[in-house]
Amino acid sequence: MNLDYKLNNKLALVTAGSKGIGFATAYQLLNNSAKVAICSRSKKNLNKVKKIFKKKFSSKNFLVIKFDLTNNKNLPNLVKKIEKYFGKNIDILVNNCGGPPAKQILKTNDLDWQNALNRNLLSSIILSKLVVKKMIKKKWGRIINLTSTTAKEAAQNMCLSNVTRAGVVAFSKTFSLEFGSYGITSNSILTGACETDRFKKLINPENRKSYKNILIKISKNIPAGYVSKPDEFGHIISFLCSDYSNYINGAAIPIDGGILKSNF
Ligand SMILES: NC(=O)c1ccc[n+]([C@@H]2O[C@H](COP(=O)([O-])OP(=O)(O)OC[C@H]3O[C@@H](n4cnc5c(N)ncnc54)[C@H](OP(=O)(O)O)[C@@H]3O)[C@@H](O)[C@H]2O)c1
Repeated sequence: MNLDYKLNNKLALVTAGSKGIGFATAYQLLNNSAKVAICSRSKKNLNKVKKIFKKKFSSKNFLVIKFDLTNNKNLPNLVKKIEKYFGKNIDILVNNCGGPPAKQILKTNDLDWQNALNRNLLSSIILSKLVVKKMIKKKWGRIINLTSTTAKEAAQNMCLSNVTRAGVVAFSKTFSLEFGSYGITSNSILTGACETDRFKKLINPENRKSYKNILIKISKNIPAGYVSKPDEFGHIISFLCSDYSNYINGAAIPIDGGILKSNF
């Protein structure tokens, strides 16, 4: 299935875009004719992405940058570099980052909290502020905040995620109230189970056979009956970045196969 969301001439930044959901999102945005910049920490991961992108897309349409989202004070330079390279301003911002480690409250220290806040909350706030003024001038913009179902239903052992994700959703909603009248939308994705490296690490299999068994067990608890693949997120996020979704604003959208139990 290849839908065309007509993102021609839009410039997107997908942070933490070298693997998993971030990578799939960047790939689908390119597939829908956007120009795309991604960042992540590892040169090796970024080089892999470059190779994959080059097979399908023109090198003029993408940029990969080594950048650690913990370094909040360098975010203005990241934006400047991308906008200079493409000669235009960012139209679509997909805020994503690796998730914080699973820990209980008394097992965390101040650095754990500082890192989680910097990577998973502050980086989204700072980047959104950096791109919004030019979106206002253009009267068009899209902010997608990739978070987790933990923003809505706190998970055991995941205090760093529970707290920072709820903050992102609150920021995203407030942002939509302040800038909705300029044709800018800001939405959060409440991510459920998705088969990525992070997912595999979290369920911590001892070998492939047990991994398969765990996957079957997890799938049984999800109304949809399976654990999603990153590509599904890429397609839905491309839709949310298109003109077809002008009226979806300030939403916290679960992509979770129905695992969240609340009505709203
Ligand atoms: N997969 C799931 O089932 C699931 C469920 C709920 C929520 N989520 C959330 O969704 C988000 C994406 O998860 P995923 O499963 O796609 O993870 P993933 O496959 O592990 O990918 C994480 C990406 O983040 C990059 N990254 C990590 N730390 C970074 C940093 N400090 N600065 C810049 N880039 C960084 C990684 O690249 P480098 O290593 O090169 O930096 C990689 O590209 C996470 O926040 C995760 O908690 C995932």
